[in-house]
Amino acid sequence: MFHYSFSPSPCLLLCLCCSVRASFAHITQEILNVALAHTGQPSLDPWDNPHLDATWNILFNTASSLLQRWPNNMWSNGHSIVTATIPVGTAMYHGMWESNTTVPEKLEWLAFDFEYSYLYCEPICRMAKLLATRDLKVLYFDGMSAAKVRPLETGHQDAQDLIAWGRIRRDKVLAEPERIERLCAWGKKFGLDGFVRMQFAFEFMYCDLDGLYVVEVLDLLPHGNPTLKNHTALPPDGWKGTLTSGYQAFYQAFTAGGWHNYFPGESHVQLDYSGFLSFYDPALESLVDARRGKPRLQHRLLGISDEDIAAKMTELESIVLRHEVGSGADWHQMFRIIIERYADRLDTLNHTLLSSSYSNATMLSSAVRLQLLTMLLPHLTIIDHPSRSESPNNLTWLLPVVDRCSRTSIPEAHLTPQEGLLKNAVSHVLREICRRLALMWADAFDVEEADESRTNTVVSSWRAHTTELMKWLNWSAWVKCRPGCRTDETCYISTWPFPFPEDSFENITPRCVVLR
Ligand SMILES: *[C@@H]1O[C@H](CO)[C@@H](O)[C@H](O)[C@H]1NC(C)=O
Ligand SMILES: *[C@@H]1O[C@H](CO)[C@@H](O)[C@H](O)[C@H]1NC(C)=O
Ligand SMILES: *[C@@H]1O[C@H](CO)[C@@H](O)[C@H](O)[C@H]1NC(C)=O
Ligand SMILES: *[C@@H]1O[C@H](CO)[C@@H](O)[C@H](O)[C@H]1NC(C)=O
Ligand SMILES: *[C@@H]1O[C@H](CO)[C@@H](O)[C@H](O)[C@H]1NC(C)=O
Ligand SMILES: *[C@@H]1O[C@H](CO)[C@@H](O)[C@H](O)[C@H]1NC(C)=O
Repeated sequence: MFHYSFSPSPCLLLCLCCSVRASFAHITQEILNVALAHTGQPSLDPWDNPHLDATWNILFNTASSLLQRWPNNMWSNGHSIVTATIPVGTAMYHGMWESNTTVPEKLEWLAFDFEYSYLYCEPICRMAKLLATRDLKVLYFDGMSAAKVRPLETGHQDAQDLIAWGRIRRDKVLAEPERIERLCAWGKKFGLDGFVRMQFAFEFMYCDLDGLYVVEVLDLLPHGNPTLKNHTALPPDGWKGTLTSGYQAFYQAFTAGGWHNYFPGESHVQLDYSGFLSFYDPALESLVDARRGKPRLQHRLLGISDEDIAAKMTELESIVLRHEVGSGADWHQMFRIIIERYADRLDTLNHTLLSSSYSNATMLSSAVRLQLLTMLLPHLTIIDHPSRSESPNNLTWLLPVVDRCSRTSIPEAHLTPQEGLLKNAVSHVLREICRRLALMWADAFDVEEADESRTNTVVSSWRAHTTELMKWLNWSAWVKCRPGCRTDETCYISTWPFPFPEDSFENITPRCVVLR
């Protein structure tokens, strides 16, 4: 196990020392038509469970979690590369630890949060503030794409490696200067200004200063040595009192990263979902095989075939080169609306079904029936009920309900191939939610007339449906501290560089901690 006691030096944590300069953290179609034809379309029997190899649920989670620290912390092996813009006027910071330095002309790291660059302010602090003078064209790597964790077999940089070296290079985990050089050399061909990555906060790797303006370089108060507990720097001439310790500086950087835990995430960066490239694309058969039977935490790009690498690189080039803008759909909002609509309601349904506060199954079943009715109400017309003559196993009457419930408002026209993949993910996820709700409603419809024995059977069946649905969806919205934390605590899941002894990539159980 890889345990960090909380005495991290920025050098170690961020592998600062592997870079020559006081560099900022280290932090990197055509094909889709095949994807759509592949495992894509809902199966012929509308009541079938989703295929075990299907990745629509993961694609949905991935796309709805971009730029948010909490879910990308959990699913730290990123599988997606997304075109994005850093809008004109965006402020970024670069902390330097020598008094004679200035902002390098090219190949450096900037932070969106001052607190993150302040980590580099020891033993002296020279802080540059930069502004984007135009919209910067960037690529964003999801997951913990800036965390360089050598001792563990993680796949944080898998996607970057494929661009930088054409294959996955574990030996290059710490080769940050070489990595940025190679990524930028590749990106130059397409007019890219740089790359956005995440570790405990978000960073921008710029290729050169074109499009960036150094507004000011200030000599600020330094913080103490972070390897020495409570160590603070000597106050400059004329200053009195205690300065910030290295510990505090680290916690503040960590906390600032936490501002981007949830939707909308790191809002300094604007994603262009029409350029959402994912290695969860079902067209990549080599990865379908490599992932089979593995929990999501162990998904890697290792095992990808040369053909699949070539296909994805061609797709990526076509994305960064093209001028069409796609459908114009607001994907960000699309994902949000579905999660808002169902996350709390399914959570409540789950807790109701497992609650011990109902005196008997009849009371429980009527509470659940009402919740199901509430969720399906927008899709139930007055004629959607079984006819007396049909057998109770005939669910044909529910098909129009499932169809209405699974409809999306995604436009049909001008979808890029990547939007086609997103649309498929949204459709499959909605379809599965609606299928499960409908199957539960089939029993709920007349459960008020049922005897105790049938009611008990129905309740067990609801429990199974709800558990399976939530397991399949696996939304990060359900990974939270219950019942919540005290005001001096923060709800936390293991976040690299793992300041708590029980932290690890495998331990994603949320818990209340005191961060200070
Ligand atoms: C800055 O100062 C350090 C030591 O104080 C020295 O090693 C370094 O060469 C100097 N850099 C420049 C660019 O003058
Ligand atoms: C650091 O400071 C805290 C709070 O002032 C104190 O409780 C603790 O004992 C100090 N630790 C060391 C090693 O000096
Ligand atoms: C849900 O996500 C968590 C976090 O990545 C993972 O540990 C778990 O295996 C996932 N569950 C399923 C059913 O894939
Ligand atoms: C469902 O509820 C049970 C009991 O409260 C809880 O242990 C479980 O984690 C819940 N499932 C999800 C997916 O939140
Ligand atoms: C269930 O509990 C309710 C309220 O406690 C009671 O009125 C009802 O008779 C009970 N039903 C059965 C079948 O026990
Ligand atoms: C099920 O019901 C539908 C419409 O009510 C009917 O057309 C169909 O034949 C039924 N299927 C079976 C297998 O009975």
